[in-house]
Amino acid sequence: MYFFKNEFIPAHDVHISPNDRGYYFGDGIYEVFRVYHGELYECDAHMDRLERTALEVKLTLPYSREQFVNILRELISRNSLTEGTVYLQITRGEASRAHPFPQTAEPVTLAYCNEVPRPLATIQHGIRAVTQPDIRWLRCDLKTLNLLPNVLAKQAALDRGVQEVILHREGIVTECSASNLMIVSQGELLTHPANNLILHGITRLVVLRIARSLSIPVREEAFTTDALLQADEAFITGTTMEITPVVEIDGRPIAGGTPGPIARQLQAEFERTFT
Ligand code: PDD
Repeated sequence: MYFFKNEFIPAHDVHISPNDRGYYFGDGIYEVFRVYHGELYECDAHMDRLERTALEVKLTLPYSREQFVNILRELISRNSLTEGTVYLQITRGEASRAHPFPQTAEPVTLAYCNEVPRPLATIQHGIRAVTQPDIRWLRCDLKTLNLLPNVLAKQAALDRGVQEVILHREGIVTECSASNLMIVSQGELLTHPANNLILHGITRLVVLRIARSLSIPVREEAFTTDALLQADEAFITGTTMEITPVVEIDGRPIAGGTPGPIARQLQAEFERTFT
């Protein structure tokens, strides 16, 4: 069952209009939630981010927070979802193609869920990555549908035989195609500050909270690709990838090519937040 335009309907009954501004302008916003044991993980934080993005792109949300959460819970229940993800998207509505905001269009809401197991193999063994210039716009903090640069970056990594791409702006590391990046250097945890150049990841927030609770020194400060390549550990954080170690970057092993002890410690504590 999907939720589309105010009702729960089977996936094959969802018909997206060619006039949907999400379709031709990418004029819409979204969230991806994790579901553990049938519950939305960090629901409030995701709703905060959705509301902030909506405000920044001047999109009036069609439901209150409470109504959205009820819709998503109903979706989970109707699909008997226990472990997976929920995708929620709101576009600015349907109108013939013209750049100005349409006067009368109603925002269109789409939500669906997928059974997705936790990526235990990559959590355990890590992934390999390559670095690449970050060619995105200057509002990467907004979770909008405009994801072509992210798609191109991810595909470039896959084409080079690795799983992820680490983006940088003139040598300053920002984040990955669909996750944030953290490194450990001389016992400190470093990650790009939550400004306009990265998505303010929910998993990033949770991991920083855990690190502070474990008295691991945390610095939300930009670092260079050189620092990245010399890091003692590197890992990505995200709703779907959780905390996944990066064990090789641009063909060079990180932390001796195996997940490091801080990543392991954070993974163990992270698991405790939903089990
Ligand atoms: N991506 N950075 C980017 C560019 C992202 O797209 C995401 C999430 C993150 C991590 O944020 P969070 O911890 O809140 O998932 C960082 C989602 C999962 C996606 O687009 O599929």
